Amino acid sequence: MPVLFPTAEDLRDIIFGSQLCHIATGGEHLVYISERIPGVVVKISSNTLRFVLRCGEPIDKPSDETLQAIEQEELLQRGERMTRICSYFGSKHTLEERRYLLPVPLSSSLLAAALGGRPSYSQELSTLQRHLSDGAAATAWAVVTVQPYLAAGNALSLVGGYSDDGAKADTLDAMIYSQVTHALVFSGRPIEFFDRQQFLRVQTRRELGVLLETLDHDAALRAAVRSLLRNIYDYVRDTGEILDTAGPGNILLILDGTTWNYLLVDALSIHNEPVLHLARIAVTKLLSGSEITGRERLFLMKALNFLRTVNGIGACVDLNSDIILSDQTLSFGSIDCLRETRQLVAK
Ligand SMILES: Nc1ncnc2c1ncn2[C@@H]1O[C@H](COP(=O)(O)OP(=O)(O)OP(=O)(O)O)[C@@H](O)[C@H]1O
Ligand SMILES: [Mg+2]
Repeated sequence: MPVLFPTAEDLRDIIFGSQLCHIATGGEHLVYISERIPGVVVKISSNTLRFVLRCGEPIDKPSDETLQAIEQEELLQRGERMTRICSYFGSKHTLEERRYLLPVPLSSSLLAAALGGRPSYSQELSTLQRHLSDGAAATAWAVVTVQPYLAAGNALSLVGGYSDDGAKADTLDAMIYSQVTHALVFSGRPIEFFDRQQFLRVQTRRELGVLLETLDHDAALRAAVRSLLRNIYDYVRDTGEILDTAGPGNILLILDGTTWNYLLVDALSIHNEPVLHLARIAVTKLLSGSEITGRERLFLMKALNFLRTVNGIGACVDLNSDIILSDQTLSFGSIDCLRETRQLVAK
């Protein structure tokens, strides 16, 4: 059934009418449902607040120029990328969504999601918390996404997390990390070098282990995962983008009777830039002995985790991927990725 999306005015009424019920919080979104619009979720992005602060503007009254920039990047460009993703995966496998840019009530949970655990925003966080409790600040502009509500049924996540991001790098066995990363990201021969135990020592998300165990004894799931991965490989090869395999729930495999369907719920990377392509440029720089920028390091970390995840799962279902993170295959030890990713710190 087609989704009935609210008008911006109605959505604003619903959000300000205290009729939202919180159901989840992800890395970016605060996710709600409302009796006033059954059948959909309302997802408030916490990233918009940081963007406005970075522009040096008040979160409740950003300039027209800033609002136009957000609209351009977060609504228009993302809309075009969503259309492209639908053309690769088909509308049956993507979740319809509409995005709005509007003021939302400022809350301590929005402040915590946007600014908590980020040292460079600690000053703004305490100022805004004080304004919130004084009643001096009541709203913040935010991108809000409305999507059909998915009942939590029998679903598995295709997820990889960020195993080597910043301090997490120090919890990994450096040799195993290098072997797995070389096999899955730089060798061009993932199946030949694949070692499942080692893979799971690097990619430690519990949901990934559950997916691999279920794959072992469910032929229908294997077929669905192969079909999903083929489309993912085509998409990333053609666009130079990655998908967001970091969080559980972004890409789901859903059991419907005896059939597994896959669904991209929140799979579009938050970056409008082609992250895989830019990470390859960073790798070329590292190979030539040059330093890379913080932004390149972030893209490198994201592309490494994405490719390890999808090429590793591919190896588990005997699907070969020739997508690598360099212009040509590298020999073992050519590049020390952990040295780079451990330098990332929350800002
Ligand atoms: N359409 C939906 N229907 C029901 N629940 C949803 C829906 N979209 C998201 N959720 C719930 O909200 C959680 C976070 O969703 P989402 O991926 O959109 O947020 P996020 O901030 O991008 O999180 P992450 O950083 O983990 O990807 C999901 O794991 C799921 O529990
Ligand atoms: Mg997500």
